[in-house]
Amino acid sequence: MEEVEKKDNTKKQLNFLSWEDAKKEAKKFLQNFTLKEKISLMYGSALNPMKRCVGQIEPIKVGWFNKGVKFAGIKFDDGPTGPRFQKGLTNSWPAPINLASTFNKELVYEVGKAQGYDFYHTGINVALTPCINLLRVPQGGRIFEGYGENPFLTGELCVELIKGIQSNGVIACAKHFIGNEQEKYRIASNSIIDERTLMEIYAEPFYKAIKKGDVGCIMCSYNAVNGTLLFKNKLMNEILKEKFGFNGFIISDWYAVNDDSPDSVNNGLDINMPGTISKLPVVYGILNPSFWSKIPKYVEQNLIKEEKINETAERIISTMFKFDQIKYFPKNEYYSQNFITEESKKLNRRVAAESNILLKNENNILPINLQKIEEQNKKYKIALLGIDAFKGNFYGQEPSFSNYIKSKVKADGHLTNGYGSGTTTYNYVIVPYDGIKSKINNFKNIELIPYAKLDKNENEDIETSKKIAEICDLVLIFVHSISGEGCLKIANSFGDRNDLDILHNGNQLIEEISQINQNVIVVINSPGPVNMDWKDKVKGIIFGGFAGQESGNGIADVLFGDVNPSGHLPFVIGKKEQYPSEINGLQEYDLLSSVKNVKIDEFKDTVKYDEGLFIGQYWFDKNNKIPTYYFGYGLSYTQFEFSDLSCNYDKNLKKLTAKYKIKNIGNYDGSAVALLYLTFPSEVENYPIRVLKGFDKYLLKINEIKECLYYSLF
Ligand code: GLC
Repeated sequence: MEEVEKKDNTKKQLNFLSWEDAKKEAKKFLQNFTLKEKISLMYGSALNPMKRCVGQIEPIKVGWFNKGVKFAGIKFDDGPTGPRFQKGLTNSWPAPINLASTFNKELVYEVGKAQGYDFYHTGINVALTPCINLLRVPQGGRIFEGYGENPFLTGELCVELIKGIQSNGVIACAKHFIGNEQEKYRIASNSIIDERTLMEIYAEPFYKAIKKGDVGCIMCSYNAVNGTLLFKNKLMNEILKEKFGFNGFIISDWYAVNDDSPDSVNNGLDINMPGTISKLPVVYGILNPSFWSKIPKYVEQNLIKEEKINETAERIISTMFKFDQIKYFPKNEYYSQNFITEESKKLNRRVAAESNILLKNENNILPINLQKIEEQNKKYKIALLGIDAFKGNFYGQEPSFSNYIKSKVKADGHLTNGYGSGTTTYNYVIVPYDGIKSKINNFKNIELIPYAKLDKNENEDIETSKKIAEICDLVLIFVHSISGEGCLKIANSFGDRNDLDILHNGNQLIEEISQINQNVIVVINSPGPVNMDWKDKVKGIIFGGFAGQESGNGIADVLFGDVNPSGHLPFVIGKKEQYPSEINGLQEYDLLSSVKNVKIDEFKDTVKYDEGLFIGQYWFDKNNKIPTYYFGYGLSYTQFEFSDLSCNYDKNLKKLTAKYKIKNIGNYDGSAVALLYLTFPSEVENYPIRVLKGFDKYLLKINEIKECLYYSLF
């Protein structure tokens, strides 16, 4: 699909309001709304991809033949990698796990802004992102949609994404509140979390999303916490609205409202999405008639107070006034303009490259210096192996609905995303083969020998790959694993991964190739940690995550030195048994369990957060476990020297100031990431040994020294 010049004809100057002014406007706007009309703001219509959204609140029409529009409605669309149902007219961004790997606040803000532009111009009022659940278990299905294991990193970066999206007049939606760290039986699982862990670890990102990001919407999760399903759990009121002062509105996850208790509304839920009063009878709607139609009666019986309905209507409308969505907002049903431009492609490619994490670089095998190789004036062969280097049928795009139902999707090529609602409808994808080929094309002495084939068991053809590796000077092997939302069964995952193994026998492929060729570089595309028992047998390792539409160009830029890698791990990599908790086995998905009322003794899975505050690296530190790679680890083609650290804590201002210096002592310009940890005094019992409380990224030229200052207000 060719690009068209990005026209700003639909973008008027946005006029944002303070919450105080927005609430005043909302009160005026709602003055002549009937109770029924206010209640109609509280539920959506069924899933509606035909309307280019994943859910919507219907407009309120009045007057002759309903020609007058009293309220234009609200459209919601996923998700964390850009608009999901926009027919490939918008960008398919790197997954948030890659945004996290950059440790670059400014860059994440830029991505949020660009995503906000796409959501705005396709008429989406609420973008269902960021996902700020934490990487508690390495097999967790949706860890690619989040920002890794650390609550501080997740909080700081989700704020940038929210500010970016909302700067374009689109309401961001922080999700999924709370304790939703696995896919297995998520609709009927009960997370048991003590209060300190809940507040200090899992609620921190939501606190920052509200206090620093000013997020307009929050989505509650499917699961229960401590015995009560979130859609009717008082934690919504107690934590979000009362403790954190959340001014926006809370929506349910899709079809999460599965009973007609008025507790949902009374405990803080504002909108039931996508709602089950719909023009088309949806499966859940039939089995689970929407209780929203009962609200008027509940109000009459005083089971729900009318002022609660008024408060909810004011939250919804004031949020829309705050982001200037009432007076004018683009319509999207029949949009055909393409918003993929040179600028958005460049930004995608920059993130794809900057999110690559260089884990190993023995004998400086990287970057591959093509010019130097060419000048040796002799044939040089590079083998490109592994199915993940090439385009397959599924690369992370939104599968067709029938594929969802039949789960016919296979991970049979390069992966640029996971699966489920965090995907998008791709316009194009650059795979590693494309990116590498375009770099090598102009060098006549360098020959690329590409090969990968899966047998009927979806395993790599190791024998042929070995024959190719034998005759080559250098071998690039691309491997992957996959996970997603619990709606598809792909390879070793049904949402969550069953293990941390690379797919298609990739471990054996690497082991056997490394025995016949000494110059092996492995690139891993995966939602999170994988087993790397082979890591000492290869010279180069790059963790590429899921890097979106420009993935192949991003990795090629890093492999050949056009970009000096500066990604760092947003999670610790260890062996599965080293982690504090695991997801034992995959779920067997039964539709019924997701629609019938789940009573307290009917939970299909109880998830005990017994590790408490010790998530990820904090667990490894506490138990003296040596990981394969530490949280925050990442190499560069250059080296940095950190020195002269001094700290000061101002008790009155509660302000910690850290000063330090960084020097680039290597041979490449590059970006350094500084991580600042705090160790609390021993009086603070049973606390992580060192807690991440700051990070910054600095670009330094060769020999450049930077005096850095970091301060944090607790
Ligand atoms: C899903 C997801 C949520 C998504 C919503 C709409 O089930 O849990 O993240 O935004 O439904 O697709």
